[in-house]
Amino acid sequence: KMSDFVEIFEVGPRDGLQNEKNQIATKDKIALVDCLSGAGFKRIEVASFVSPRWVPQMADSADVLAGIERAKGVSYAALTPNMRGFESAVAARADEIAIFASASEGFSKANINASIEESLERFAPIAKAAKALGVPMRGYVSCVTDCPYDGATEPGQVARVASALSALGCYEISLGDTIGQGTPDKIRAMLDAVLNVIPADELAGHYHETAGRALDNIEASLDLGLRVFDAAVGGLGGCPYAPGAAGNVATEAVDARLKMLGFSTGLDAQVIAKAAEMARGMRAGRAD
Ligand code: HMG
Ligand code: MG
Repeated sequence: KMSDFVEIFEVGPRDGLQNEKNQIATKDKIALVDCLSGAGFKRIEVASFVSPRWVPQMADSADVLAGIERAKGVSYAALTPNMRGFESAVAARADEIAIFASASEGFSKANINASIEESLERFAPIAKAAKALGVPMRGYVSCVTDCPYDGATEPGQVARVASALSALGCYEISLGDTIGQGTPDKIRAMLDAVLNVIPADELAGHYHETAGRALDNIEASLDLGLRVFDAAVGGLGGCPYAPGAAGNVATEAVDARLKMLGFSTGLDAQVIAKAAEMARGMRAGRAD
């Protein structure tokens, strides 16, 4: 049954690697993506066209997109914070892009140097250009339960930012527990508010594993109808502008839990295990 399928959106090559201090060789990033391309994912986030001053690790995003072997049926995604990033993503032939906002003002300022309102204004021309070119656009909302600067986030505020991204044309909104402080209760309260304005099939859960609750938060979200979750092989990552943020929930852990719960993911656990090993090797600075 279709309803038994849950998609894992692999974000390891972007969210997983962006926080790594030592510069990882472009060829190692390409090898990781090429391995992931054989695992059965429909979407893999591989690039981020942000300021190299802000996130040096992602400076070779165009080279990564140029070097990978594109598997049929896989969409290779890139983050685009502004028009310049969008133009770079299109030139590098990203299959889809993502704009990223925050539900909290403190994180918005720290991460993209703009208020929430200013960021939405900055995204409007991207949305227009993406629509004109037929490039699918995803949206992220960060700090959906807690912000490292502002404390607890109001569920209604998440719903407002999510609807604004939706109104700009995002086909899916990924809800980020950026610092992993969500609990199943907080996630349910947040989703109750968001589901009033956006249907479950246009939402994704993006949970970080800081406090070890990401899998519980995924289960709470499954109960409320969500069927897409972001994860990173090897549990790598974190956001450089979110102090204390640990990695994304590990793809292999989400895949195993979903299968245990009776869902199908279409993923090859052996390929994922191999990619997770590669990813962990990169973190240790001894890839190859
Ligand atoms: P700014 O300083 O306000 O903007 O940064 P600016 O226009 O003054 O640009 C600053 C410098 O960046 C200039 O260079 C620009 O040319 C350059 P300089 O003159 O200083 O040498 N620049 C660019 N270079 C390449 N590509 C571009 C680009 N734009 C400007 N597109 C800006 C504003 C948005 C650019 C900056 O704040 C930025 O890049 N932020 C990105 C931070 C980031 O990537 N964070 C991690 C991703 S979000 C995340 O991880 C959360 C998520 O996983 C969900 C969750 O977990 O919650 C998605
Ligand atoms: Mg993230």
